Amino acid sequence: MSKKLSENLSLKGKTALITGASQGIGEGIALAFAEYGADVILHYREDRDQVEDVLEEIGRFGVKSSVVRADFSKTGSVASVERQLDKSVKPDILVINASLQIAKPWEQITQRDFDIQMNVNVKSTMLLIQRFSPSMIERGWGRIITIGSVQQIKPHPAMLVYAASKAAVLNMVQNLALQLADKGVTVNNLAPGVIDTPRIKEPVPEVEERIKKRQETPLGTLGEPIDCAAMAVLLASEAGKFITGQNIFVDGGMSL
Ligand SMILES: NC(=O)c1ccc[n+]([C@@H]2O[C@H](COP(=O)([O-])OP(=O)(O)OC[C@H]3O[C@@H](n4cnc5c(N)ncnc54)[C@H](OP(=O)(O)O)[C@@H]3O)[C@@H](O)[C@H]2O)c1
Repeated sequence: MSKKLSENLSLKGKTALITGASQGIGEGIALAFAEYGADVILHYREDRDQVEDVLEEIGRFGVKSSVVRADFSKTGSVASVERQLDKSVKPDILVINASLQIAKPWEQITQRDFDIQMNVNVKSTMLLIQRFSPSMIERGWGRIITIGSVQQIKPHPAMLVYAASKAAVLNMVQNLALQLADKGVTVNNLAPGVIDTPRIKEPVPEVEERIKKRQETPLGTLGEPIDCAAMAVLLASEAGKFITGQNIFVDGGMSL
C-alpha cells in the first residue's frame, strides 16, 4: 500500500484547465479542484464579471489561478487558449465542460444550429485534447475529463443535435483512453443528469407528458454542481489512476 486515500485525492502540485468555469458545473469543479490544492485556469466565453467572482472565491484556497477567454464556436479559439497561457504553464488536468445546447423541435433545426453545436461540443473537444495532451504524455501523467450528459442514452426530444454531440464525445473518450492508457493519461466522461445551474432555466419546448415521465430523476431532486465536482476530483486525482475510458453518470438514477 502506498499513500492514504486522502493523500491520493490531493491535487497539490497539479494545474487544471477547466472550460466553461464561469458558472454552473465548471465553476463547481474549479472550486473543488482549488479546495483539493490544484492551481486552476478558468476558461469563460463572455461574462468577465462572473468569472472574476469565481476567481475571488478561489482566492480563499491559496492556489494560483488565472483566466482565459474563448468562444469555441469560432475557428482558432482553441489555439488562442494556449496563447493566453504563460509559456511555462502546461495543464496536468483538462476538464472539457463548456458546451452549447440549442433546444428546438427536430424538424426546425438549421444547418447553422447543427454546425455551431458540433463545433463547440465535439470539434473543440478534439482540438483541446490534441493541444493539451502532448505535455501530459511527455510527463507521463495526465487527466482528461469530458462532461457529457445523460442525454447520451436518454436524448431529450428537443435536443437532437446536442444529445448526439454528447454521444460522439463519449465515443472519442473511449477511443483515446485506449490510445493513451500506457502513457499515464486517463480519459473519462462524467455524464450529469439534471443539475441546478443557469442552463436549466433556459426555455425548452414543451414535450408530451408520456415523454416527460421518462425524463424524471429517480432520486427526486435536482443535482448540484458539487455532486459532479466530487466525481471530478476522484477522476482527476491519483486515487482515480485505475479508471479510464469510462462513462460515469452523476444523475440521481436518471439513466436507468
Ligand atoms: N446543467 C445540467 O442539467 C446539465 C445536464 C447534463 C449535462 N450538462 C453539461 O454540463 C456542462 C456544464 O453545464 P452547465 O449547466 O454548468 O452549463 P452553463 O451553466 O450553461 O455554463 C456553460 C459554460 O460554458 C460556457 N460556454 C457556453 N458556450 C460557449 C462557447 N460557445 N464557447 C466557449 N464557452 C462556452 C459558458 O460561458 P459564458 O457564461 O461566458 O457564456 C459557461 O461558462 C455542459 O457540458 C453541459 O452540456 C449539464
